[in-house]
Amino acid sequence: MKVLVCGGAGYIGSHMVRHLLASGHQPVVLDNLSTGHREAVGDAPLVQGDLMDRAALAGLFAGTRFDAVIHFCARSLVGESVEQPYAYYDNNVGGTLNLLQAMREAGVARLVFSSTAAVFGQPQAPLIDEQHATAPINPYGASKLMVERILADAHRAYGLRSVALRYFNAAGADPSGDIGESHQPETHLIPNVLRSALGQGAGLKVFGDDYATADGTCVRDYVHVNDLAAAHLQALGFMDAHEGAHVFNLGNGQGFTVLQVIEAARRVTGVEIPFERAPRRAGDPAVLVASSARAREALGWAPRYSDIGAIIETAWRWHRAPRY
Ligand code: UFG
Repeated sequence: MKVLVCGGAGYIGSHMVRHLLASGHQPVVLDNLSTGHREAVGDAPLVQGDLMDRAALAGLFAGTRFDAVIHFCARSLVGESVEQPYAYYDNNVGGTLNLLQAMREAGVARLVFSSTAAVFGQPQAPLIDEQHATAPINPYGASKLMVERILADAHRAYGLRSVALRYFNAAGADPSGDIGESHQPETHLIPNVLRSALGQGAGLKVFGDDYATADGTCVRDYVHVNDLAAAHLQALGFMDAHEGAHVFNLGNGQGFTVLQVIEAARRVTGVEIPFERAPRRAGDPAVLVASSARAREALGWAPRYSDIGAIIETAWRWHRAPRY
């Protein structure tokens, strides 16, 4: 299959590109390189461009017949979305609308979309399945939920087939060590823990130790980035047999506190990891853990990395020797 990967130079997108190449498909990457890295794309062709540029999109679809699109482009920082909501709606909703219009004009009718656990807001259940109410508490989550609604409308009006995958906490790196997570600034827990192990960064802070959890720190469901990539490929196959706009939650179904992640990283790295306790970070729910039963049943998805130590091990390989 010839697949357009929007945002294929980013963290999750670049792992997707590698997975498509290894599975015999032909990915083409569209990325504006605002947060992505040219080096992350590897052997796939890279078109440097932006979803806000309608003319460039039309040209891209006119020049190549794509079988499907996988869409990772987004601004994705919760705190920044609260401070700059227009930028988030403009890019995440407006940019996606441009992409959908261009797909429709070119007759491309299959899309896999990166959604997020942030569509749920403050969870009302210990295990979040797809029936759980969606009530985002920040513009980032609201922008992703808006696109999910647009996709449902697009199916009804135009017959677009789509799968929205709601990631919980993407983590780890390809075991080759060739590609990995490289954000500027880095806000995510595991990269910050590993930087602290290496004596890099501004010093690890644990945000909040008074939550109603086992040790008072927040619980998250960490899922390996290559397992996420595998789910996207299965979603492409799923759309062959299924019309409609579908949503799936993707996580391991097991939660770890921030302190448990630090302890797991200590075992992997063999070094004591310095940290200090800090006040809660605004907008952090106490516990976010996925039920991925629907993805397991419908897509046949079975994450290969269920052990937090194994996930951190792959991230450690990358952070010790990042290529970009
Ligand atoms: N944390 C720290 N110190 C850090 C970084 C994070 O203590 O330096 C804590 C956070 O407070 C949180 C946990 O570690 O409790 C995980 O934080 P991350 O930033 O790694 O991930 P989030 O759970 O905040 O974010 C994820 C996705 C977002 C999505 C969000 C939904 O990365 O895209 O879930 O709540 F929006």
